[in-house]
Amino acid sequence: MASSLTAGGTQPSAPSFSGLRRTCPKLDAAVSFSHRVNSSIRLVSSSQRSPRGVVAMAGSGKFFVGGNWKCNGTKDSITKLVSDLNTATLEPDVDVVVSPPFVYIDQVKSSLTDRIEISGQNSWVGKGGAFTGEISVEQLKDIGCKWVILGHSERRHVIGEKDEFIGKKAAYALSEGLGVIACIGEKLEEREAGKTFDVCFEQLKAFADAVPSWDKVVVAYEPVWAIGTGKVASPQQAQEVHVAVRDWLKKNVSEEVASKTRIIYGGSVNGGNCAELAKEEDIDGFLVGGASLKGPEFATIVNSVTSKKVAA
Ligand code: PGA
Repeated sequence: MASSLTAGGTQPSAPSFSGLRRTCPKLDAAVSFSHRVNSSIRLVSSSQRSPRGVVAMAGSGKFFVGGNWKCNGTKDSITKLVSDLNTATLEPDVDVVVSPPFVYIDQVKSSLTDRIEISGQNSWVGKGGAFTGEISVEQLKDIGCKWVILGHSERRHVIGEKDEFIGKKAAYALSEGLGVIACIGEKLEEREAGKTFDVCFEQLKAFADAVPSWDKVVVAYEPVWAIGTGKVASPQQAQEVHVAVRDWLKKNVSEEVASKTRIIYGGSVNGGNCAELAKEEDIDGFLVGGASLKGPEFATIVNSVTSKKVAA
């Protein structure tokens, strides 16, 4: 494992910085990481593992934090949440997005600071029309959304959306100019069966097969067993999958996309665990459910970018 992490002939060298990212590999961290890995998932072989240099070059460096409010809130509670967000001090170098229930988007858009962008929690697969109960991409744009969350585990496993359908949704949303928060993640039994990477790669492939460009895609790795359970992935467990996802993008899409695409973590992130997670090199931000319903705690998560700067 240690050798696989250092495959590619990378040599330790003096760190330099691009945005929040190192531009040289951090060999010691990689080796100690290999000793710390404590998960049942299958490890990538040395031939699968990319040089850490890809990671070091990755990303725009801009942290991304999304708040997924899911099916929560009332006019009153959302008024309070928006007011808390409007008065919160947010680090400047973070993209911040919130995703209210559809019926409250207009209220949020007209009262929330422009500092925070708005996302839909889902969108229809094509142009709007006779699709009872659906919301179209055109409507999300019309109401002021810049993003949409697609492939969330609750839509996959509760509503029954399939990979191909989700990929088509992503392609349509992108073609209309929305950014896509593309969610992937394994169930507990899949992790226990050593299939974490297989599941994530398959879900990723469905996005890759459909989307024309990754410019406005943020990948959210959200292990299903961690969502809403209070059981957060350890920083090492999350980092391990994020590295594998970036490696998959490099091999199957392009080195450039692997470098630029932000890979955020979701699943029981809160004000107490965000700083440790943020320190991991490939964790480029968070998708937050429960804790995003509390303004001050969400602000703490946004501001965990500061621990990333220290870690770098
Ligand atoms: P959670 O949800 O933070 O409540 O676990 C995360 C998500 O579903 O995006």
